[in-house]
Amino acid sequence: MDIKEIQTIDHDVLVVGAGGAGIRAAIECAQLGLNTGMISKSLLGKAHTVMAEGGAAAAMGNVDKRDNWKIHFRDTMRGGKFLNQWRMAELHAQQAPDRVRELEEWGAVFDRTPDGLINQRNFGGHRYPRLAHVGDRTGLEIIRTLQDFCIHKGIATHMECTGLDLLLDSGRVAGLVGYWRETGRFVIFRTKAVIFATGGGGRAWQVTSNSWEYTGDGLGMAYRAGAELMDLEFTQFHPTGMMWPPSVKGTLVTEGVRGEGGVLLNNKGERFMFKYIPQRFAAETADTIEEAERWVKGDKNARRPPELLTRDVVARAIKKEVEEGRGSPHGGAFLDIASRRPADFIKKKLPSMYHQFKELAEVDITKEPMEVGPTLHYFMGGIRVDADTQATTVPGLFACGECSAGMHGANRLGGNSLSDLLVFGKLAGIGARDYVKNVSQGKIDEGQATAVIRNATAPLNREEGPNPYTVQEDLQKTMQQLVGLIRSAAELQKALSEIERIKKDIEKVKAHAAPQYNPGWNAAIDLNNLIVTAQAVAMAALAREESRGGHTRIDFEGEREEGLTYNVILNKDPNGKMQLRKEPRQTPPKHLADIAYAKIEDLERQNG
Ligand code: FUM
Repeated sequence: MDIKEIQTIDHDVLVVGAGGAGIRAAIECAQLGLNTGMISKSLLGKAHTVMAEGGAAAAMGNVDKRDNWKIHFRDTMRGGKFLNQWRMAELHAQQAPDRVRELEEWGAVFDRTPDGLINQRNFGGHRYPRLAHVGDRTGLEIIRTLQDFCIHKGIATHMECTGLDLLLDSGRVAGLVGYWRETGRFVIFRTKAVIFATGGGGRAWQVTSNSWEYTGDGLGMAYRAGAELMDLEFTQFHPTGMMWPPSVKGTLVTEGVRGEGGVLLNNKGERFMFKYIPQRFAAETADTIEEAERWVKGDKNARRPPELLTRDVVARAIKKEVEEGRGSPHGGAFLDIASRRPADFIKKKLPSMYHQFKELAEVDITKEPMEVGPTLHYFMGGIRVDADTQATTVPGLFACGECSAGMHGANRLGGNSLSDLLVFGKLAGIGARDYVKNVSQGKIDEGQATAVIRNATAPLNREEGPNPYTVQEDLQKTMQQLVGLIRSAAELQKALSEIERIKKDIEKVKAHAAPQYNPGWNAAIDLNNLIVTAQAVAMAALAREESRGGHTRIDFEGEREEGLTYNVILNKDPNGKMQLRKEPRQTPPKHLADIAYAKIEDLERQNG
């Protein structure tokens, strides 16, 4: 193949991924005067951002004036079990309100308080109503707003284009090879910097809220280019995915249902969450139905209902109820808002949930409870980045949003993903601009580009081999059964040996027919990233011998002090093998530790 015949496109910065983080980063780059390109695996507007339905967390204090960035920071650290990167959690809590207000200036139509401010709702782990929202379609409205705004910024948007691998010049980014999904033709982007905003890798599991695009592409490409991955053991199982019918199992049921007063029940009609209140949250969680009800009725001095504990706690509680025989018919729990709120209120506040259940499950949520259970929703771990610039360990490569690590520690609070992508999308744009202005365009190495293309076309050129969909199913089954919500050393070791076996299948996988409109070939390509993702999660999960946040080990119950002293770092060794080390964590900066461990009353008094 003559590489000179491959289409080449030049940009100062290329953003890979067009969810909220990617578009926000691209807007920043364009506003800073850079020639900015953005590639999107699917059509613009179809991103996992849409699955953050309930709102964007930002301490604006519109509904409860006691709120401020310090309390948001404290909640985020407690939710993340103190393993968050301190500086990222600080930047996030401080900057989120401005990013939400900026969105409003760009045209986002948020729900309003009676006095006309952006309305904010309750969510798990957030001390005060903090989620700026648009019914239960907040992610969708954010994407719509960003999209409209970005189009006017002259960003070159390359849709249905998948990134294959980075091209490096003496270790720094010089470009990226991709292909157009429609035609199967290749394209080389020549660029000084690349920002990955590719989301997570939920498609490595069977039950997930993630759609087909989320195959860990950024993780795979960054890893192959030599970047470090961090804390991949922390995978978030959202407690409320749909359980029935099977075709929609895992589809998200927003936490907004509980935020608006919905409760979880077992098959005996018991509000079982009262049994699962962890010590850390005991002081602020109601332990009687009477107190929980006072809170629902607006008593600001009452403690919050246990249904609004953090997601890791709620997901494990549902699993336990099921294991002990108190589950719903399809292996979950009941989520009831019908008996607690009038039908009009439910339709107004949760319109998507109303339609989703009506259309997909023939359930009227204004009359009946929903059946829900844990679904793989989010990666807390990802590509290691610098907090202020989002730079990875590869010069010229930046990462933001779900594919980057650090902000959420061991568990993310609901609503912190939308504010994360706004805050760190912008910072990644600034980081890339500052980098780009000091470097020249690197040289494109034809040998590297040819190797990427040869690897991508290999499944088409083989005579025979395993079917890519069968291999993907095999991997999903392995991850679901062996690297699920509750893990053990024996299961994780088994998962790793299965992953080695599946790797061999991936090397032989066969895609039939031509590259045009070829979903089988696309699936074969995705496997290269899914397998890196799966291996990284399983290795990190085996290495962390404790239970913390989104990582639960049946053989190592509870948090261990030692668990707070390291991050799990993964990278490619010189022989191409994945290697793992535990890297000592930074000592908490005093001013932030003082806030994270402060008494809530002290922070309220210092409001502002
Ligand atoms: O439940 C939800 O609406 C999801 C929100 C999030 O993941 O931030």
